[in-house]
Amino acid sequence: MRVSRAPHFRGRFRLPGDKSISHRAAILGALARGETPIRNFASAADCASTLGCLEALGVGVWREDQTVRVTGRGPEGWQAPRADLDAGNSGSTLRMLAGALAGRPFRSVLTGDESLRRRPVERVAAPLRAMGAVANGKEGRPPLVIEGGRLRGITWELEVASAQVKTAILLAGLQAEGTTTVREAHASRDHTERMLPVFGVALAREGLAVSVRGGTPLQGAPVDVPGDVSSAAFLIVAALVRPSSEVRLDDVLLNPGRTAFLDVLRRMGARLEIGLVRETPEPVGWIVARTSKLVATSIGGKEVPALIDEVPALAVAAAHAEGTTTITGAGELRVKESDRIAALAEGLRLLGGRVEELPDGLAIEGGRPLRGAAVRSHGDHRIAMALAVAGLAAEGETEIEEAECASVSFPEFWDVLGRGAAGAD
Ligand code: S3P
Repeated sequence: MRVSRAPHFRGRFRLPGDKSISHRAAILGALARGETPIRNFASAADCASTLGCLEALGVGVWREDQTVRVTGRGPEGWQAPRADLDAGNSGSTLRMLAGALAGRPFRSVLTGDESLRRRPVERVAAPLRAMGAVANGKEGRPPLVIEGGRLRGITWELEVASAQVKTAILLAGLQAEGTTTVREAHASRDHTERMLPVFGVALAREGLAVSVRGGTPLQGAPVDVPGDVSSAAFLIVAALVRPSSEVRLDDVLLNPGRTAFLDVLRRMGARLEIGLVRETPEPVGWIVARTSKLVATSIGGKEVPALIDEVPALAVAAAHAEGTTTITGAGELRVKESDRIAALAEGLRLLGGRVEELPDGLAIEGGRPLRGAAVRSHGDHRIAMALAVAGLAAEGETEIEEAECASVSFPEFWDVLGRGAAGAD
């Protein structure tokens, strides 16, 4: 994909449904009895992977425009899959389904594309084994073989902040004997905790611990998916770094476990207006972002899990901020869809940025003019989109290799980017 400098970035957009919430709605709907209509289901390829796996397990899935209807018969209704379950590029699909499958009395094999087969699964396999399931990766990576059965509740301390692993343990816990508790050191996104009560499951939350009791049946329920705030991040940064720009995003998810990047951008001097429209089960509202003069900041510690997916967008903002921005405590970025630390350092350097790669983050000296170049996405959707936004601000033309991977989370991205650059409403 070729991107050239945009004179401005303007428009009013409604984003496709949030990826994290769509995965969860589909999986909980599949574990429930009855129908779960999911409105504004994500168009992301990752969420189609989840639906495909659920169908392979015998769950009813109907797609009608942006609404997906999942019909479940409880966990007992799941059938042994005839082939390996293909999670594609989606770590969420593979890890969360592993938890649900740990309670099912059959063998399944979870696998995915080349990128997913390089990512760690021991973090989810270990707790599932402690609950009594067979759960084995190949040298800690997919394919992940699960042989489920009778599970016992456990208390598990998460070493790495991971909402996927937390969710997997809770989904296994719903099928286990007794109580299952997950405790985390830093809060990760809490969509599962917010959604379970919608399906009739009571859970106990105490500080950074969450507990479920096994055997509680789930009842299908309608879910309205707000716009994906992680996709919003790219459009917001595009408006901040281009002159005479303004974007308004409506119906966007404002869960604090996902919006730490907005706090960071404000700290950097971003002109943002945010309005909350409703609060439950998920906070939803609108965001307006305008051209801003940005200054460097430090990002680290407990805010990292709440902005982990937005580091690529923040790195582009940092390249436009006066001073050196440091990002630390983000070593997890090395095991995402690509090694995002290395991929961002490479891409921004090729565009003329001054970037230092740290073991667990980046130091980005901002304020240097970027110039167009040929850059690589490494097949990673968020790297492709971040470099495209950098390209909008770079002099000349930027060519992004394997740009089609943006459809993993935001298939409409290139269209929206073009509309914003053309200034259409
Ligand atoms: C997600 C959790 C995060 C995030 C991913 C989606 C989720 O991963 O990076 O894009 O929906 O629970 P980890 O659980 O590995 O932190």
